[in-house]
Amino acid sequence: MAIPLSFFLLLFPLLAPTFVFSSPVQDPEQVVQQVNESIRNATMARRSLGFLSCGTGNPIDDCWRCDHHWEKNRQKLADCAIGFGKHAIGGRDGKIYVVTDPSDHDPVNPKPGTLRYAVIQDEPLWIIFARDMTIKLKEELLMNSFKTIDGRGVSVHISGGPCITVQYVTNIIIHGINIHDCKRGGNAYVRDSPTHYGWR
Ligand SMILES: *[C@@H]1O[C@H](CO)[C@@H](O)[C@H](O)[C@H]1NC(C)=O
Ligand SMILES: *[C@@H]1O[C@H](CO)[C@@H](O)[C@H](O)[C@H]1NC(C)=O
Repeated sequence: MAIPLSFFLLLFPLLAPTFVFSSPVQDPEQVVQQVNESIRNATMARRSLGFLSCGTGNPIDDCWRCDHHWEKNRQKLADCAIGFGKHAIGGRDGKIYVVTDPSDHDPVNPKPGTLRYAVIQDEPLWIIFARDMTIKLKEELLMNSFKTIDGRGVSVHISGGPCITVQYVTNIIIHGINIHDCKRGGNAYVRDSPTHYGWR
């Protein structure tokens, strides 16, 4: 019986964040009201401050753009969310990972420097991009938990191939990238963590 016990101990730390963060909200209507209020507040702030304001009227953007040093404080974006994803921390508590390579040649053994290599890792990561790039994925991008994809400051497009899948994971933030012209992938193996890949 030693085996099931150690199996349980191993699994529990992995599952604990899921229990904490995926519990349904107490009062969905209240969440909707808060979003409404945030939008109203941001709109009013924009009107009253006029052209001198850094405000856009978008409460999420207004939350980070007004900081001139936002590039030095990227993880503060995690506190800017509104609505049902408000508490998602993404890769806030992890390292910054810089994507330098737009290619996606091998979805089972992604190359370091690619977006796919970054998103499958087990550790939390705040993923940014070295330069403007268009990423044509070969297969869908299966994200692991506690990741932020942060395209602020550069122009990043994911297009022309399969796009992003977020399933059975928690704490994902995706901000400031363009995702369009997605095509169906599949009938292929795709890695979703350093230790697992599956048939899609
Ligand atoms: C917020 O709610 C009010 C009244 O319930 C409504 O008139 C208004 O259009 C809503 N605002 C937004 C931004 O959804
Ligand atoms: C909207 O502004 C009011 C007044 O400043 C503030 O009390 C309230 O917390 C704000 N609501 C949101 C959701 O930011």
